[in-house]
Amino acid sequence: MLAKDELMCQIVDSSDEMHSLGGSLATGLFDGLAIYLRGPLGAGKTTLVRGLIQSLGHVGSVKSPTYNLIASYQTGGFCIHHFDLYRLGDPEELELIGVRDYFSADAVCLVEWPERGAAVLPPPDVTVFLDYQGHRRRLRAEGSTKRGGRLVHCWLQAAEARV
Ligand SMILES: Nc1ncnc2c1ncn2[C@@H]1O[C@H](COP(=O)(O)OP(=O)(O)O)[C@@H](O)[C@H]1O
Ligand SMILES: [Mg+2]
Repeated sequence: MLAKDELMCQIVDSSDEMHSLGGSLATGLFDGLAIYLRGPLGAGKTTLVRGLIQSLGHVGSVKSPTYNLIASYQTGGFCIHHFDLYRLGDPEELELIGVRDYFSADAVCLVEWPERGAAVLPPPDVTVFLDYQGHRRRLRAEGSTKRGGRLVHCWLQAAEARV
């Protein structure tokens, strides 16, 4: 088990700020990462993912793939797979769609509600915890692998540079 390399904690004032933090995350992105997003409905998981994907150059909407489980984007030289497992009935469904093939060395996977697929999903490099803080949101990101720690470190620097 690797030690937690880096930790990022932040209060996020608005939806726009959450979107912009997604853009900061894009600056240190590299292939092969698995990023899990935890937190209640409406906490801002999709907003963060949207900020990331749009800042890479994707023009158009980014919606939670609640019914399809996965949406994939080719943008900014990356292949991004965005999962939303909120409606996943049985983790076996993930086996059936060959979920492990998505977690490849040349793709980045972002997973909302990873706890619903815990039995099947590989461990994450980074977990982002989002929660309500009054009208605002609280964000905590933890790297759980060396690569993940590196990403959180870059993310923190990019977020601070934007302020
Ligand atoms: N500080 C904030 N950060 C993120 N979203 C916020 C914030 N304040 C209000 N919101 C709103 O909360 C909702 C978050 O929705 P969404 O990103 O879809 O959450 P989730 O994917 O976690 O269910 C959006 O309507 C967004 O505009
Ligand atoms: Mg969502």
